[in-house]
Amino acid sequence: MQEFDKACSEKNQEKGWNLESLVALAKAAKTKASVPLSRFRVGAAVLTRSGQIFEGCNTESLIPVLGVCAERNAINHAIIHGEHEFLAVAVVSDLTSPLLPCGTCLQYLQEFGRQQGRDILIVAEGRLGDRVVTSVDALFQGGFSRDTSVRDIQESFRWSDDDGAY
Ligand code: THU
Repeated sequence: MQEFDKACSEKNQEKGWNLESLVALAKAAKTKASVPLSRFRVGAAVLTRSGQIFEGCNTESLIPVLGVCAERNAINHAIIHGEHEFLAVAVVSDLTSPLLPCGTCLQYLQEFGRQQGRDILIVAEGRLGDRVVTSVDALFQGGFSRDTSVRDIQESFRWSDDDGAY
């Protein structure tokens, strides 16, 4: 949070970025959503340590599993531009209550955060302007990481054999 505030007050302010503009760019991205299946529009924007913002919207396919959430598209947008250090992500949808990133996106965000040894701030805003401000690590504990031991992984596979799921 401190680092986020600092980034907002220094570089970002020079460029005109702050929390409001992060949310505003997520809202603009929402209008670009490609959602033939669900018609549910989501917009996201990530703030990088270098003070840049990259947007993403959700994209869907006739093969549903190929769809990508707005949050991951925003991250991938930044990656294409050589940015991989993230301070914050804003998420907006047309739901009344603020939409928080799904588990898949939390895993994705957390992996980038951990590479830098930092948590990533989340700002979620609902249709009527209600906001939740939280963080990836606050929402997602015990995510998969390089530290997950081989033994733990083997254990989990043994579990799926035992319950006859496959
Ligand atoms: N979706 C997102 O983009 N972000 C979320 O945090 C949750 C869900 C998208 C995926 C899919 O295109 C649509 O919303 C319905 O699940």
